[in-house]
Amino acid sequence: MGKVLVVYATRKGSTRNIAELIAEGIRIDGGEAEVNNVTEVKKDEDLAGYDGYVLGSATYHGEMMQGMKTMLFLAEKAGLKGKVGGSFGAFGWSGEAPGRIFDTMDHILEMDMVGGPLMLKSAALGGGTQMAQERK
Ligand SMILES: Cc1cc2nc3c(=O)[nH]c(=O)nc-3n(C[C@H](O)[C@H](O)[C@H](O)COP(=O)(O)O)c2cc1C
Repeated sequence: MGKVLVVYATRKGSTRNIAELIAEGIRIDGGEAEVNNVTEVKKDEDLAGYDGYVLGSATYHGEMMQGMKTMLFLAEKAGLKGKVGGSFGAFGWSGEAPGRIFDTMDHILEMDMVGGPLMLKSAALGGGTQMAQERK
């Protein structure tokens, strides 16, 4: 699996929690995972040297957070073509961010995308335990 960079954009911390869980899964599978807040990625060189990238943002007002938008432009400069990619994010009801990130990584960055966008609903908005118990 190699070395994977997990980057998250969050306001309240739920998307950071998902990032940590993804990193834990990568480590359990024998890979190396580094987790960074999007605010720590300041230049395209900060994205160099990884085999895979998992990028996530919470959805606010139907969009990904501004920091992740800016970071995707840096990722375009970094040249991640052919690298393994995935996306994720916490949401409340519509959850546009993970899908938008996924599509940008797929179509613009031309990455080798794995699965689909991972969307986890906020426990405060009917996700978590409530969501698990209502699904039959
Ligand atoms: C002002 C505001 C606007 C929001 N807009 C959306 C939205 O358009 N779609 C959606 O699915 N969730 C929306 N949410 C819910 C957040 O995505 C949800 O609370 C999420 O867990 C926040 O993730 P974070 O803890 O990583 O910041 C909104 C929340 C707030 C407070």
